[in-house]
Amino acid sequence: GKIWVFNGPNLNLLGLREPEHYGSRTLAEINQEILRIANEAGINVECRQTNHEGDLLDWIQALTPADFLILNPGAWTHTSYALRDAISAVKVPALEVHLSNIHAREAFRANSVIAPVCIGQISGLGAEGYELALRYAIAYQVRTAD
Ligand code: DQA
Repeated sequence: GKIWVFNGPNLNLLGLREPEHYGSRTLAEINQEILRIANEAGINVECRQTNHEGDLLDWIQALTPADFLILNPGAWTHTSYALRDAISAVKVPALEVHLSNIHAREAFRANSVIAPVCIGQISGLGAEGYELALRYAIAYQVRTAD
């Protein structure tokens, strides 16, 4: 099993995009820190981003219950039953991550159609949310390894 970090639409714009909501770090900087933590733990992690929902569905369909998915689905969080179905179909353990606190913003952001098929949700901790999710994923894989 491998740990995957998938980011959905518009997250390639991090650093430029509404820093008051999403912080000033770029996705490359966030991923660099994720890879540093992973290296230190001797763990193989791969980070990907896409603006195309079908790409994300294909990537998720290739996962198995032995993998672990850290996912920021961006606005698909609120809309994509297809994404939710893909996660439940492959039964991959998943954590949902949001940089901003989706419960403290516009009403449409408070609902996640993805959260019910995830172990949990981290929201509002900025880029640190990914790092905390990674630490959880590492511990989870140790715990469930046979
Ligand atoms: C986001 C929150 C979503 O509502 C928004 O559409 C995003 C980013 C976050 O990381 O805070 O694209 O997922």
